[in-house]
Amino acid sequence: MVAELAPHIQHVSNISLVPVQPGLGAPLDSADADAALANLLGPDGMGTTRALEVYHSFVVPNCNPQGDLRSLAYVPNAPCAESVLLDSLLTGATFMGTSWQEASGAVAAENQALRWLADLIGFGQAAGGTFVAGGTIANVTAMAVAANRARELWPDAKLAVAASSEVHSSIRMAARMLGLEFVSLPCDSDLRLTRASLAVLDGVNPFRICALVASAGTTNVGAIDDLRGVGEWCGANGIWMHVDAAYGGGALTVPEASPWFDGIDLADSVVIDPHKWLFSTLDCSALIYRNPNEAKQLFGQRAAYIESAVGGDTWDPSDYAPHFTRKCRGLPFWFSLVARGSDAIASDVRRGIELARETADVVRCEPTLELVMEPTLSIVVFRRLGWQRADYEEWAARLLAAGIAFVAPTTVKGEAAMRFCFINPETSMMDVRLILATML
Ligand SMILES: Cc1ncc(COP(=O)(O)O)c(C=O)c1O
Repeated sequence: MVAELAPHIQHVSNISLVPVQPGLGAPLDSADADAALANLLGPDGMGTTRALEVYHSFVVPNCNPQGDLRSLAYVPNAPCAESVLLDSLLTGATFMGTSWQEASGAVAAENQALRWLADLIGFGQAAGGTFVAGGTIANVTAMAVAANRARELWPDAKLAVAASSEVHSSIRMAARMLGLEFVSLPCDSDLRLTRASLAVLDGVNPFRICALVASAGTTNVGAIDDLRGVGEWCGANGIWMHVDAAYGGGALTVPEASPWFDGIDLADSVVIDPHKWLFSTLDCSALIYRNPNEAKQLFGQRAAYIESAVGGDTWDPSDYAPHFTRKCRGLPFWFSLVARGSDAIASDVRRGIELARETADVVRCEPTLELVMEPTLSIVVFRRLGWQRADYEEWAARLLAAGIAFVAPTTVKGEAAMRFCFINPETSMMDVRLILATML
């Protein structure tokens, strides 16, 4: 099928006949960026009209819109129209999402969205949390709460975070930042953490594990760890279980996918990023604790000048993460839920899962392509036979420079591979075939 398309598409080194997606392009050379921006700042300002011209002529063409139909690198962002609408209304509103006193309407609405996510997870009524800027800061925050609990329990212990070798890089960073060791656990052949992976922790261990992190959708291949096995082990050993569902959590909305997350309700904390697979604007990550009081003890800021704002009986988002002044960044997500309904969101998520499977089918039919593993969520990884990492890099750079697609190679099981991550439900198999045809 892809091979049939190939003759109709010029090789990417000759871009003239290639359909160009507006918006995608190679990044600037930093010297060119400096030159373009030189002399813009001055005592008088150039005025709004000319400043907008600069924005449109310099900034916009030199940024890659993540919502582009052929933006499949990393984890793209494809916000729905409803979240974009609310975000633009919110930007100038000066609502301060710090405390109930300052923005009770917004905080109540954000909490409704958090509760909706908590119900998908299966958390009880006591659960709660806050929206932070991204999965990275959410993971760091959860690790800080887990470490704080462990330091109270075992003041003299050397503490460590344990997670699979496939866990998102922010967990290792969190460990470094918080002065914790990182214990890397082996995965099974599907790159999942299982109960068997935890055997290394059952033996003699120089560290106290303060948190075990399971992934519900790894960034590299979309694998979902054995959440029940890990959760039961954590429960039996009194260890904080954190589930990083920053990317994969969106699939909890899809009834036929939710069984894959069996055991997620055993977690002490869960991260789900609406700016990833729940079609919200940037930047919006939900961090939900089973028992939010433990976070409040760590993050609650108290001082004379804020006494009337925080520290009472009301729900104050500033108590649940290391932030104080904050945008009500959960509101665009809440609004999209209210306006669209959960079925529409689930159907968009389902499309991502289908796109990954349909892409896998196309790859299977191409003699020069090889599927690395069956996709579970919306990520598909495959190889171009005979290519090394440099070949993928060069090809991806040419596609971007030509404005055809934004894709990025990866390494899976020690070998270079191509990885597509589908978020935008409007991406079509024609887009996919067009990109694959340039690889053959
Ligand atoms: C599983 C997972 N966790 C955490 C993150 C970090 O999220 P963010 O980039 O929003 O900080 C990502 C990003 O792709 C991710 O896929």
